[in-house]
Amino acid sequence: MYILLMGPPGAGKGTQAAKLVEEFKIPHISTGDMFRQAVKEGTPLGKQAKEFMDAGKLVPDSVTIGIVKERLAKADCKKGFILDGFPRTLEQAEALGKTLLALGINLTRVVNINVPHGDLVSRVTGRRICKSCGRAFHVEFNPSTKGENCDACGGQLYQRADDSEATVVNRLSVYDAQTQPLIAYYEQQGLYTEIDGRQPIDKVYEGVVKSLKVERA
Ligand code: AP5
Ligand code: MG
Ligand code: ZN
Repeated sequence: MYILLMGPPGAGKGTQAAKLVEEFKIPHISTGDMFRQAVKEGTPLGKQAKEFMDAGKLVPDSVTIGIVKERLAKADCKKGFILDGFPRTLEQAEALGKTLLALGINLTRVVNINVPHGDLVSRVTGRRICKSCGRAFHVEFNPSTKGENCDACGGQLYQRADDSEATVVNRLSVYDAQTQPLIAYYEQQGLYTEIDGRQPIDKVYEGVVKSLKVERA
């Protein structure tokens, strides 16, 4: 199963990816998570990515395409993957197409979790993430039963550096300008499915799984 999850900032890509990982045991490849890890470790990649992320801009294609190519070449991707937040530009989509062709992989489906911009600011500013396992919560829509600690592992919850209201507004306009055009790109390839991301998390997940045309156990 080779799944590409699209959607604007805060639409629920990471939330749905975590559920897919649990069910299908395939790797979750989030370029945002990869960049955040690099920032945390203070690597050259992290230093390069940080200024773009903090401003709500895209990290340059030359950098982003390279790290994804490297990741997709790893053995654990042979049986499937969930790409989250990549591609975000037409150049990235074309590079992905070439990489997958070389690897002999056909995308199963491109699933766009669609949520109107008006609902996204509160989703993003209310998000809290577990420092230990990375699970995402929401203070109002999906709270942890352990307050400021993670339900699953007890880790401390924190807020992402780019989850301020001002940065989210930039991220949304970057999405409209640079990522939205990918919808037509994947529609033309017959791979595109849109899911209403305003539904509860489990309903969205049902829609995602249905779109993969998989018989569930
Ligand atoms: P990235 O980390 O990918 O951020 P994003 O695309 O802005 O998306 P988010 O992670 O904010 O949202 P999500 O859709 O995963 O939502 P989540 O499930 O957490 O990228 C960050 C930055 O890295 C970019 O700005 C850029 O600088 C750089 N970058 C990354 N990829 C790049 C690329 N390809 N090229 C260049 N630069 C790149 O859910 C959000 C909240 O809502 C949570 O609190 C959750 O609990 C809640 N929630 C989820 N689902 C629901 C629901 N159905 N109902 C109610 N609440 C819900
Ligand atoms: Mg995410
Ligand atoms: Zn945790």
